[in-house]
Amino acid sequence: MSVRPIRLFGDPVLRTPASPVVDFDAELRRLVRDLTDTMVDAPGSGLAAPQLGVGLRVFTYHVDGEIGHLVNPELELSEQTQHGDEGCLSIPDMTFPCTRAEQVTARGFDQHGEPLTMLASDLLARCVQHETDHLDGVLFVDRLDADTRKAAMRAIRAASWAGEPGPVVKQSPHPMFGRGM
Ligand code: NI
Repeated sequence: MSVRPIRLFGDPVLRTPASPVVDFDAELRRLVRDLTDTMVDAPGSGLAAPQLGVGLRVFTYHVDGEIGHLVNPELELSEQTQHGDEGCLSIPDMTFPCTRAEQVTARGFDQHGEPLTMLASDLLARCVQHETDHLDGVLFVDRLDADTRKAAMRAIRAASWAGEPGPVVKQSPHPMFGRGM
């Protein structure tokens, strides 16, 4: 097991666009393993490298019992949208309704550099969009409608973990009912 601390809202690394992976080497495979272990331990539906403080375009997912990863993702979104609650492991213990594309085609690579195409819908599509946003320095609260975003920012400011000097490992189990990413 290689569980690492998850960076929290307010950490500048979460607002920094990540760089494309160039070397598909042992270090990348270690990163995928760390992301997977940390995501499963949280537990969460997805985790992106910047959430571990690593500025590379890699994320993992764990949706409907399936665990996987994608490197250097490029997304194609459906016109059709889905509405549902969403949470983020970097914004612990809260979810807010967030509109996303219902389906997504994600093209990228696996950890060995082999091309990979994912056809995702429902929660997996939501997860892929959420994690790819992380790689662009975008957080799901940026995607909320204005009133919900105001409520979210109020809740974040009031949260016990806000303003912590360093990364904090989340302790509470299953606080987001599988909606944390
Ligand atoms: Ni997240």
